[in-house]
Amino acid sequence: MTADREKLYEGKAKILYKGPDAGTLIQYFKDDATAFNAQKKAVLDGKGALNNLISAHLFPALGALGIPHHFIERISDREQLIKQVQIVPVEVIIRNVAAGSICSRLGLTEGAPLPKTLIEFCLKDDALGDPVIAAEHIDVLGLATPFEMDEIVEMSLRINDFLSGLFMAIGVKLIDFKLEFGRLETEDGVQIVLADEISPDNCRLWDSDTDEKMDKDRFRRDLGGLVEAYSEIARRLGLSLS
Ligand code: TMP
Repeated sequence: MTADREKLYEGKAKILYKGPDAGTLIQYFKDDATAFNAQKKAVLDGKGALNNLISAHLFPALGALGIPHHFIERISDREQLIKQVQIVPVEVIIRNVAAGSICSRLGLTEGAPLPKTLIEFCLKDDALGDPVIAAEHIDVLGLATPFEMDEIVEMSLRINDFLSGLFMAIGVKLIDFKLEFGRLETEDGVQIVLADEISPDNCRLWDSDTDEKMDKDRFRRDLGGLVEAYSEIARRLGLSLS
């Protein structure tokens, strides 16, 4: 278990421990759910294990597509071995359909398809409430270079195409999602790789037939049944916790 591991960082939904080898970390998925910058909190039994399972399925699938990522392997119900990266402090939000904050910010109707995929950036800073920022802010504040951002946007669009099809095949609409990227030191220099997690915590997933929400909005909006919905996503992906 994790008792003898050195904790390096604790976030709202995950903990990072020192890994067994240099350049590796263990990413531990908690059952904690937070929303609205942790103003709302709960512990939802089984959420962490489901997010670990789902994310550990999606990262290798993206790897097979040629997307470089930090994931190495799922080592237990709640833990995965990952490569240590320096996280780019920018949250990348990819939107196919209007939902959530874009509706309140810009007056769009939830459920309205966007004429083309929209990519937004937020500064990864809880104290500031993760504000939306422009590519120019990222450049001027030195958060990432324009070259790195070109790579991040290109990868994000490819990830969106792939995941939209993957979810469509299991009767789920990928409405929007959030990605994080990191800088990985390699023999050939620094490479931008996909990091963090991809799970119903950071995607909006609606049932294709009923538009029922199968993601963290069940918690954000007090709809109940979050763990059941995440389990159904895992089941449709052909995954089960053993
Ligand atoms: P938003 O509509 O609240 O801006 O969220 C857009 C997408 O990003 C949605 O799929 C949820 C995800 N998200 C996170 O993963 N972490 C966050 O802190 C926020 C605000 C959103």
